[in-house]
Amino acid sequence: MNDLTYREVRLPEDVGGCLLCNNAPCAKACPYGVEADTVIRSLRFENTAGAANRLPDTLPCVSCAAKPCLSACLKGKINRPVPIDEIMRMASSYGKQTITHADLSIDFCGIRCENPFFLSSSVVGSNYEMVAKAFKLGWAGVAFKTVATFVSNEVSPRFDALRKESVPFIGFKNIEQISEHTLSENLGYLRCLKKDFPSKIIIASIMGQNEDEWTLLAEMMTTAGADIIECNFSCPHMAANGLGSDVGQNPDLVAAYTKAARKGTTLPILAKMTPNIGNMELPAIAAVCAGATGIAAINTIKSVMNVNLDSFASGPDVMGKTSVGGYSGKAVKPIALRFIQSMKSCAQLKDIPVSGMGGIETWRDAAEFIALGCENVQVTTSVMQYGYRIIEDMLEGLRHYLGSHGFGSVSGIVGKALPNIIPADNLDRSSICYPRFAQQQCLGCGRCTLSCYDGGHQALRQDEKTGHPILNAKKCVGCHLCVTVCPVSAISSGARVPKDKITSQAG
Ligand SMILES: Cc1cc2nc3c(=O)[nH]c(=O)nc-3n(C[C@H](O)[C@H](O)[C@H](O)COP(=O)(O)O)c2cc1C
Repeated sequence: MNDLTYREVRLPEDVGGCLLCNNAPCAKACPYGVEADTVIRSLRFENTAGAANRLPDTLPCVSCAAKPCLSACLKGKINRPVPIDEIMRMASSYGKQTITHADLSIDFCGIRCENPFFLSSSVVGSNYEMVAKAFKLGWAGVAFKTVATFVSNEVSPRFDALRKESVPFIGFKNIEQISEHTLSENLGYLRCLKKDFPSKIIIASIMGQNEDEWTLLAEMMTTAGADIIECNFSCPHMAANGLGSDVGQNPDLVAAYTKAARKGTTLPILAKMTPNIGNMELPAIAAVCAGATGIAAINTIKSVMNVNLDSFASGPDVMGKTSVGGYSGKAVKPIALRFIQSMKSCAQLKDIPVSGMGGIETWRDAAEFIALGCENVQVTTSVMQYGYRIIEDMLEGLRHYLGSHGFGSVSGIVGKALPNIIPADNLDRSSICYPRFAQQQCLGCGRCTLSCYDGGHQALRQDEKTGHPILNAKKCVGCHLCVTVCPVSAISSGARVPKDKITSQAG
């Protein structure tokens, strides 16, 4: 069995070990000019077509005996170099693919955007230089860091990440508030950005302390050249009461402040929602009734993490203390998608434009938000971790996906997944979908058997010679725990059998 049999398992693992260096030494060391770093990055960000296309027709790595990329690899200083040569070979086995020119532009709140990818309001869009760099790399717009009439006084440190196994950012916690620049500095950044990048879209995120301030800030941002106003009703860790998520949890305040912002502008207004609430539809409806054009969701989730068991301090550790702060990054994506889905399934909100965010790292994550009804997506945590450069694979990957699936434009997939999320009592309960085992791929590790016994229905036993699972269909309920735990994807969905036929067919 060659390594291509397990390519879809090996590649992510090998690629996941890459440090994704800036100015990568591996690429510099290659005498043939192979940009291994960008190939690995494309694989990491689920753009396999882009990865294969970046490789030369004849792969020099195959006959390269010296392998200077491996000697240069900084991972070698930790334990062993990333297997760059093998990754290149596996990437090239995908073959060159034509990236079609599917149209990535999309209307959002009546504004044409060159693509759906925006930076979300946070540290990643805090000043002119940062946003200019991002725009040049291909981001279509920015929700600028939240601006207020006051300057927030921040703590140090203010960030921490949750690591588990080999994943460095399962989730990310921050206790940062809003802009550290003065109102006039922020207005200056916005004016210059609009002047220098007229086709890019600027969302000005604002936070007032009372109705007059919401009106004033909306007016000022409009005059400075913003295209859209975003009302921050959702920061979960403001030092003062009555701001951020305190507002977003209270539909009456949301309505009052949206109305006040509407007094100050004729631009589209987005109400940015907090996930620290059971039912997001209530504040969202209040915002729309009070004059919001669309919804942005989600802001970060209130969290406590990383309790140090020596000092009993939790992160981010500010001289032994921390506070409840906002959780973001890949861990929150399913929660974000659930809120988007519930708003898009609500009769009063289904036609309201939504900008979705929460854990988007790749074009695939973004496409999931779009398939659940978002015409626009925003990103912070993954830019903090990997840099603005992730846009390259997002654009290429989305374009390739759309083209290869026969969609001419992004709008073609907006809301496509919504009909498939239905109430629990409408799901089919009359049949069982059995697992199918690909014996030639099975390693015989027995993980499926173990999980089925200890966490399932004792329907598998392990063949003593091969280690392969043997199914007792009479006990199997089709829960698919075995499918999810198999480390090499050797178990998949098999036959679906009506429950009333089971004894005769599956015994
Ligand atoms: C460090 C940091 C600072 C943030 N600052 C703001 C902010 O000023 N205004 C705001 O509306 N949201 C802010 N957010 C929330 C993000 O815009 C976004 O809603 C959230 O992080 C989820 O997206 P992500 O998983 O891509 O990070 C911040 C998030 C982080 C991580």
